[in-house]
Amino acid sequence: MDASVLLALRDPAGVPFYPIVFQILYVLTWALHAAFVLLALGSMGLSLYGSAKGRSDKHWSILTPHLIQTGKISISILIVLGVAPLLFTQVIYDPNWYVTNTLSGMWVFIFIYTLIVGYSMYYWYYYANRGQKSGSTLIGFISFGILVFAGILMHNFAVTSIMPNAWMNMYAPNGVVDTSGWTFNIDVIRLAFMVSLSIPVVGIFLQNYSRFLSTRKDFEASFISYTAKLGTNLAVMGLLISAALFVLWMLQIGYLFHLVSLATVVGVLVLLVMAKMNSNSYYTTLVLVVVALLISTMREVIRFDIMGKLGYNIYDYPVNLEIPTIVMFLGTFLIMGFVGVAYLLSMAWKVGKNEGVFDGSKDVMVSRLGKSTLYIMITWMAIYFVWGIGILFNNIL
Ligand code: HEM
Repeated sequence: MDASVLLALRDPAGVPFYPIVFQILYVLTWALHAAFVLLALGSMGLSLYGSAKGRSDKHWSILTPHLIQTGKISISILIVLGVAPLLFTQVIYDPNWYVTNTLSGMWVFIFIYTLIVGYSMYYWYYYANRGQKSGSTLIGFISFGILVFAGILMHNFAVTSIMPNAWMNMYAPNGVVDTSGWTFNIDVIRLAFMVSLSIPVVGIFLQNYSRFLSTRKDFEASFISYTAKLGTNLAVMGLLISAALFVLWMLQIGYLFHLVSLATVVGVLVLLVMAKMNSNSYYTTLVLVVVALLISTMREVIRFDIMGKLGYNIYDYPVNLEIPTIVMFLGTFLIMGFVGVAYLLSMAWKVGKNEGVFDGSKDVMVSRLGKSTLYIMITWMAIYFVWGIGILFNNIL
């Protein structure tokens, strides 16, 4: 692939801010997306085991609905959080993203319907499981399979986008143009590594779950220790599988001794020790966040190098500074986003810690955060519309 072709595919308007900022935001937000993808797949997968067991086991009859609920919420969060890296990647790597969307156009359509059908069936599974109806496990399996398939499609887009040298051949194999949009590429080891991470993620989640509930008197001690042990086993076994697949992936692409790769291996080893000891799973989760960021960085290093070798450097992207856009974006992201998320998280934490009904209006911190979120959102909407309409009239009058 000639660099001039890649450069011609860039947005002629340039980027509105320094490319490195978009790159950092991409790494950060993809790690967030991945965290919820892995929690969704992990908790959903484990819930299938519990659902198949039925109500006979007293621990699983409590755990299964909680896992299903965790999966259900995680899917909605992963979808929202998937949009962010999508936007950042199409700002700095637009040639890659749009070429992929053209070559795999049919799969892009299918992806949307896959998500709709998979998530709707998940709700079916969720309601059926609440009523303990027979057949709910089968529905769960189908929904799980469909959502894993969505991940495989996502993987196809990611892999195709970093194969610029093969694009011409995918577009016109043997010189005959193929506009079907059925291009599909898969890198089995990379995909297996990504999906395998859902095992340690659900393991560490269970350790947190058991730690969180341990302060509540309405959960038996035997249930708390059962879930902690299950979490530890899953985390340790999963980390070993993921570590082996990561090393294989790095060997396959010749990156094993890259600094980021070595740091990831060290991070996984630290995680392994911490997960095995399980002295404080909240700290283990912090290390997990660092490892997720390292994996996200590794993905970006691979792409950056592939593109760099072809003469496409994102740091050379023409910058057309647009301060108002950036101020609006950062204001939304940092002020509205952080206060809103802090409100939701603090409420969720207190609801979970509380036995009986939790009244948020009587809690000083929760109600203060709630009111602030509301006022910030009203201000945000006023600024958004007044500013937007102002610019619109300014441009057309
Ligand atoms: C159940 C649904 C989903 C699953 C299981 C899933 C899973 C994945 C996986 C495994 C990857 C990594 C692929 C790789 O690097 O090999 C990925 C990447 C990504 N996903 Fe998702 N995803 C889902 C839904 C979404 C949605 C709805 C969006 C956007 C709205 C999204 C946006 C992205 C983006 C932007 C990337 C990075 C692509 C790149 O770097 O080229 N994902 N996803």
